[in-house]
Amino acid sequence: MSPSGALPRASVADSLGFLADVFIPTAAKGPLIRRPRVEGLAERLGLDRRAVRRMQKLDRKYPGGLLLLRLPLRNQALVLRPGHLHAVLSQSPDPFSPASSEKRAALAHFEPRYVLVSTGAERTARRALQEQALDTASPVHRLADSLLPIIREEAEAMMQGARSKGVLDWDVFNPAWQRAVRRIIFGDAARDDTELTEMLTRLRKDANWSALKPKRRQVREAFLGRVQERIDTAAPGSLAAVMRGRDESDPDAPRDQVPQWLFAFETSGFAAFRALALLATHRNEARLALEEIASDRSGGRRLPFLRATVLESVRLWPTTPMILRQTTRETVWDAGTMPAKCGVLIYVPYFHRDTRRLPLADRFDPALWLRGDGQEDWGVVPFSAGPASCPGRHLVLLCTSALLSNLLRGADFTLQDAGRLSPERPLPGTLNNFSLRFIPGEPPS
Ligand code: HEM
Repeated sequence: MSPSGALPRASVADSLGFLADVFIPTAAKGPLIRRPRVEGLAERLGLDRRAVRRMQKLDRKYPGGLLLLRLPLRNQALVLRPGHLHAVLSQSPDPFSPASSEKRAALAHFEPRYVLVSTGAERTARRALQEQALDTASPVHRLADSLLPIIREEAEAMMQGARSKGVLDWDVFNPAWQRAVRRIIFGDAARDDTELTEMLTRLRKDANWSALKPKRRQVREAFLGRVQERIDTAAPGSLAAVMRGRDESDPDAPRDQVPQWLFAFETSGFAAFRALALLATHRNEARLALEEIASDRSGGRRLPFLRATVLESVRLWPTTPMILRQTTRETVWDAGTMPAKCGVLIYVPYFHRDTRRLPLADRFDPALWLRGDGQEDWGVVPFSAGPASCPGRHLVLLCTSALLSNLLRGADFTLQDAGRLSPERPLPGTLNNFSLRFIPGEPPS
């Protein structure tokens, strides 16, 4: 195909195959809030593994790296090669805008002016505000002195809950983690504001249906009003304190930037809980983690092995499985031209689990991140990449590695049904975090 022609187009059968094996099962899990039952079904039926196989098949049949699906009403491209993935992500937001129409429709339910769905000068200003609050450039957030004690205290409370119930399950883990999250974002006064989290949960459930569900503007206004109150009273040393003194009419829309923190910290909990499952089932790596914790002189600020473990958790089970972009204008590639207003879909598990490029793709291999070689070539992008990549990456790794170190200091955990994650077999394509259960044993000597 010459560069002046259109990109290769998938046959109708291949387009339907993509929808059936990749898009529908992923969307059914819930893009904005996970549906535990579908997550469980996906694990039982091996749906994510099937999705990766489908993508590999498309890549073999259409080797140009980019493919247009044959769909009614819209132009939709798929990214099939790491080089193309990096080209798209490094050229965001223009010509590959993260503010795609489906994301705008979904996020309008609870954060219509959020950076990811903003464009032009507004996007630039809101991104700068996010980077400032999240201290994006620093591996150790400048507020670590106030954040780490919160994590230690809530991890202790979590351990107490687990000991009295006899198990650390999602119902013990998540409420304790959410308390830590509200304190990190707003300060101690928000610790028990479960209503705030519940309001957001209600709106996220609507957002799962995107434009198909009418917006509940009153609930949204009540929620955003509550966020604004929490910002106004945010404690010094909390993330939201950066936003204090700026009201909701500010063009940077501070109150619309914060809901994502609550929401994305929840998925950070998924990543940490799955990381715990990896360590509970991989004895060699657990030993290395304990050695790191025992020799830590940074007060939990620098735990490279535990950070690599969380990175493995989000590589193996990405919490953002689909990265979406939309072209602002026509773009020309070796394989042909991509039209303007074309959706671009990066199905992340395909790149993360492609054993053709990454021989240990289905294994738990923290060394992958410690070696730091050649990730560019594989397209391993749990936090996306380029100018619209996750500005919370380092903060997530700081908080989750600190959580793991506190938990592992408190108990030796045994995963019930450990056969789900055997080091002897390829790891499953889905790991339903809602069904993980750990028995806390004695603390390590
Ligand atoms: C496991 C945890 C997390 C993962 C894997 C993750 C991953 C991602 C990914 C893949 C994107 C890009 C989405 C896209 O391009 O469409 C993103 C964007 C973003 N994330 Fe995270 N994230 C996590 C947690 C967090 C947390 C805790 C925060 C804030 C406290 C955060 C703040 C943001 C923001 C503000 C953006 C939008 C960036 C922009 O539009 O320029 N994330 N994240």
